[in-house]
Amino acid sequence: MRILGVESSCDETGLAVFDTEAGLLAHGVHSQVAMHAEYGGVVPELASRDHIRRVIPLTRAVLKQAGLGLADLNAIAYTRGPGLAGALLVGAGFANALAAALGIPALGIHHLEGHLLSPLLADPRPEFPFIALLVSGGHTQLMRVDGVGRYQLLGETVDDAAGEAFDKTAQLLGLGYPGGPALSKLADGGHPYRFKLPRPMLNSGDLEFSFSGLKTAVLTLVKKEGLENKADIAAGFQAAVVDVLAGKCLAALKQTGLKRLVVAGGVGANRALRARLDVEMAQRHCLVFYPPLDLCTDNGAMIAFAGGMRLGQGLPAADGRFGIRPRWELAELERADPGRSGVSPPA
Ligand code: KG4
Ligand code: ZN
Repeated sequence: MRILGVESSCDETGLAVFDTEAGLLAHGVHSQVAMHAEYGGVVPELASRDHIRRVIPLTRAVLKQAGLGLADLNAIAYTRGPGLAGALLVGAGFANALAAALGIPALGIHHLEGHLLSPLLADPRPEFPFIALLVSGGHTQLMRVDGVGRYQLLGETVDDAAGEAFDKTAQLLGLGYPGGPALSKLADGGHPYRFKLPRPMLNSGDLEFSFSGLKTAVLTLVKKEGLENKADIAAGFQAAVVDVLAGKCLAALKQTGLKRLVVAGGVGANRALRARLDVEMAQRHCLVFYPPLDLCTDNGAMIAFAGGMRLGQGLPAADGRFGIRPRWELAELERADPGRSGVSPPA
């Protein structure tokens, strides 16, 4: 089975072809980062318009890269939600129209399921069950994953997401948008313990997270110190986030007795986080898995792959109706959920 994957939930247009026998055949991403940078964040209307411009050329490019034509596709998987309504509509409209024209199924995929399963695109791949740390610009969640479609939320952020905290802190340090990678680079040259920053909820006894207090602490620090020592501030911030994320992962493994951890989402690309988790997991004889580095941030490969997994297991992912779900909890994605809600209006 060959599946075309279409991702358009936010500011990346991602297309990919995944073959359930041969694996990932091609993938391409167009990032809108430069376009949104001058506004300091994603402008939804501009995002939608850019997806429209990119989706067809990118589809042609990945098919060419895979050496395939449209007639070689067996299904089209697209991000049904969550995300920006207008942006989702572009991918959903395109995928459904193309699938109808080709007479093949269109599969509406949950964006976070894509991220969650993306470490299975790497080698070696984790076996179920595992704990997943999902850390992106919009989400910070710990989940127990027992199989495709079998997700149990163990804890999540009560305020900002980890990526959001990176982005907001980067902005405070004058690093532009999105600041995660830039902040992480700056932190490499700084002293992580020069300034004392809080580790919010690290010892809260549950698996919830909070990052807005840390961002406020950085703001107070910047007001006091100025930006002269910004590498040290960046390093201090990063160390605090890494401490909290690693601490909660360990707590989740202990609570469930599981031995495998999977890290997904944009912040999963952070090198300090990876280095820390590698050490902690090795010490405990646990295994940690990451998606390939270029598949940490939004992409079409993870959507095509999730579509392939669902198809392969006979799980419903489509009902032949056109639909998006801008707001959609992963926990709602029951194994038997046919995603039958059709078009739900943006909340
Ligand atoms: O998963 P993703 O591409 O999009 C969402 O679904 O949100 O994640 C993007 C987030 C942004 O907040 C970005 O700053 C952050 O991931 N990010 C990083 C790094 N690379 C991306 N944060 C810290 N360190 C990085 N190396
Ligand atoms: Zn994402």
